[in-house]
Amino acid sequence: MIVLGIETSCDETAAAVVEETGALDRPWRLRSSVVASQTEIHREWGGIVPELSARQHIRDICGVVERAIADAGSPAYDAIAVTQGPGLVGSLLVGLSFAKSLAWARSVPLIPVHHLAGHIESLVLERGEMPLPAIVLVVSGGHTNLYWVTAPGVYELLGRTRDDAAGEAYDKVAKLLGLGYPGGPVVDRLAARGNDRAIPFPKTRLTHADRNAPHLHGRRDFSFSGLKTSVLRHVTLRRAELGLAVDANLPEDEVAHVCASFQRVAVENLLDRLFDAARWYDARSVGIAGGVSANSRLRADAIVRGDQRGIPVFIPSLALSTDNAAMIAAAGLRRYRTGIASLLDVNADASLAL
Ligand code: KG4
Ligand code: ZN
Repeated sequence: MIVLGIETSCDETAAAVVEETGALDRPWRLRSSVVASQTEIHREWGGIVPELSARQHIRDICGVVERAIADAGSPAYDAIAVTQGPGLVGSLLVGLSFAKSLAWARSVPLIPVHHLAGHIESLVLERGEMPLPAIVLVVSGGHTNLYWVTAPGVYELLGRTRDDAAGEAYDKVAKLLGLGYPGGPVVDRLAARGNDRAIPFPKTRLTHADRNAPHLHGRRDFSFSGLKTSVLRHVTLRRAELGLAVDANLPEDEVAHVCASFQRVAVENLLDRLFDAARWYDARSVGIAGGVSANSRLRADAIVRGDQRGIPVFIPSLALSTDNAAMIAAAGLRRYRTGIASLLDVNADASLAL
């Protein structure tokens, strides 16, 4: 079976073609993957402007899908998987409406996919099924969620962020350092030049349960707003000490130290909880997916911790870490195999639950 995937939940218009192989060690084969990024459009505004994003998806979607089909080497596909949510509703609607029209015109089934189920599938797409049970951390611009995976496609939420998502914290720290948008990759790059012990930003400790999700008991939750505020306080103090204007940038070497020190704590916050949960639940593997899984320190430190504990660590290749449609096609294929396809009246859902 061959699936065409379409993803437009945020600021990337993406399409991909994935083929089922039937092999256990590598269930899907990637035939093509095309991603059109809107970064240049949103950079001018310092963050994603939802209306501009939706309009750009409309401009790009035809070309991106055509290209993915052409690159796949054969125009045939048996189903269409599309991101239903969560995400920006105007952006989601473009991909979903396009997918519905195409499914209707081609008389193929339409499979709505949860964006985070797509990210989790990116772990399996290149390396085959993870040894289960597994703990999976999904870290993106909008989510920081910890899942307990007992069977392929079955995800139980163990913890989540109480405030900012990890990617959001990266983006906000970059903004306050005057580094522009998107922040994650820039902070990651500059951190390599700084001293990660230069500034003792505090690690997050959460001991109380989340009032909005008491069933999660709070033990596996994340919080990034305190860390972000510490960075803000440090930058404000240093500007005053150096006699700089309130919105001036710090000297380059100091910026690198802030990036490195922030990144060390952010990565420790993520990996402490991931590996703590893996030990607690006696997991046979761990995975890290979502845009922030592209972070060089997170990847390197996760592999070191995995080796120390003798537990395999699954991280997607860089191309599949950030938003793409290959992961949506693969997650769609898994859903379709469980008998799920949708009527053409399915709607986009900006806060869809997994
Ligand atoms: O999954 P994704 O591409 O889109 C969402 O679903 O949100 O994740 C985007 C997020 C952004 O916040 C971006 O700054 C962050 O991932 N990101 C990174 C890196 N590359 C992207 N964060 C830290 N280090 C990176 N190298
Ligand atoms: Zn994403």
